[in-house]
Amino acid sequence: MAQAEIGLIGLGVMGANLALNIAEKGFPVAVYNRTAETTVRFHAEAGTLQSRITPCPSLEDLVKAIRPPRPIIIMVKAGEAVDEQIVQLRALMSEGDIIIDAGNANFHDTVRRFRALEGSGLSFIGMGVSGGEEGARHGPSIMVGGTEDSYRGVEKVLTAIAAKYKKEPCCAWLGPDGAGHFVKTIHNGIEYADMQMIAEVYGLMRDGLGMKAADIAKVFARWNGGRLNSYLVEITAKVLATIDPRTGKPLVDMILDRAGQKGTGKWAVIEAQDMAVPATAIEAAVAARVLSSMKAERTRAEKAFAIPRRKLQPKSAPALIRQLEAALYAGKIAAYAQGFAVMEQASANFGWNLPLGTIAKIWREGCIIRSQFLGLIGKAYAKPESGGNLLMTKAFRTMMTESHSALRATVADAALSAAPVPALSSALAYFDSYRQARGTANLIQGQRDFFGAHSFERIDAEGAFHGPWSG
Ligand code: 6PG
Repeated sequence: MAQAEIGLIGLGVMGANLALNIAEKGFPVAVYNRTAETTVRFHAEAGTLQSRITPCPSLEDLVKAIRPPRPIIIMVKAGEAVDEQIVQLRALMSEGDIIIDAGNANFHDTVRRFRALEGSGLSFIGMGVSGGEEGARHGPSIMVGGTEDSYRGVEKVLTAIAAKYKKEPCCAWLGPDGAGHFVKTIHNGIEYADMQMIAEVYGLMRDGLGMKAADIAKVFARWNGGRLNSYLVEITAKVLATIDPRTGKPLVDMILDRAGQKGTGKWAVIEAQDMAVPATAIEAAVAARVLSSMKAERTRAEKAFAIPRRKLQPKSAPALIRQLEAALYAGKIAAYAQGFAVMEQASANFGWNLPLGTIAKIWREGCIIRSQFLGLIGKAYAKPESGGNLLMTKAFRTMMTESHSALRATVADAALSAAPVPALSSALAYFDSYRQARGTANLIQGQRDFFGAHSFERIDAEGAFHGPWSG
């Protein structure tokens, strides 16, 4: 068999599917898994792709099986396992070889690993991969961080295995060291906000309008044919329409209202806070997941405060559903504006020069937040130097002008009927604060000076001042 062009370590769900994808696109791939039986079984079950896959019982064998310069993808659990793998590979690989971490790494770890390998002759790529199992197998969205040279060394394979949007590969080199993993983290933050806002709108239909899962499914399916067209809205309709084989009831009604999280949403929030970029819809989504996990406490609190009536104020259901569609759209605009603002700030802070338009474009297919909406963001940030808050771009200003009143009405309706919509209301509060030239921080300045002599600025003179506070 010809020597492999690339190697892959870690045959879990994502790794196995990625390896099959690589082989299917015509690249001989060598694979290794810590548990040798997994490697053997994977190869045995690879069907017609078997001839392009070299199963390796050891890391030494894996390295030997690949033609230099060797790119090796690591797809193991993020964290220490990646560091251990790098230590072992370092001893076996040679000048020019490339280690690619394709897991959901924290970008700070990626920067550290990148620096540790600098000058060693090996290069390090931190690569965000989105699209879940299906994406890994048939085309994920790929966000690459590392040196441009190292990317050129693997570009052919990566663009071949990536999802395609009208023939354009959803894969790009986004910048040095941690740029790819940072962008993936923000992708996940936006994913959290998108999912939470969809869930809030579902809640309003379920509790506020008393609609059945099957009917809500039809609404989402219809919305998916319009401007909300996206993978997440599409699967929402499918999830809602699925019947539980055990009970014959809608499956969604049998699923516990408690969602887990692996941490990438939280990382997005931490980075936003660290850089002083408001990402309130993402923050609200992460907090909502945490609150969801406090099931027992919520149950006690509902009893303590009495069960509220969550029926929405009388309004015709079709009118309300139209309003919800526009509210979801406006919330989405605010959440994406926040996510892109975080990336723009990170780009400046870390000297990455992140191509915002390209990021939007490689998210149009393959990834979890894929949607036609991202095409509009790609256009808004089409020029390489473009940036600034998405809300201030011409197209999004028009769209927000048209849809924010529906978001406002929805948040108001929800508040009056005690239906929680934390991400939608945070998105609205962000928009209203953002477009308010005269806010209320003058009073905050006064308070800070009063209790801590922190000084304040004046509207009519330059400099720092103190008030003649008394009492
Ligand atoms: C993707 C997903 C993927 C993973 C999430 C789930 O882009 O393919 O984001 O990376 O499914 O990390 O995250 P939580 O477990 O935190 O919801």
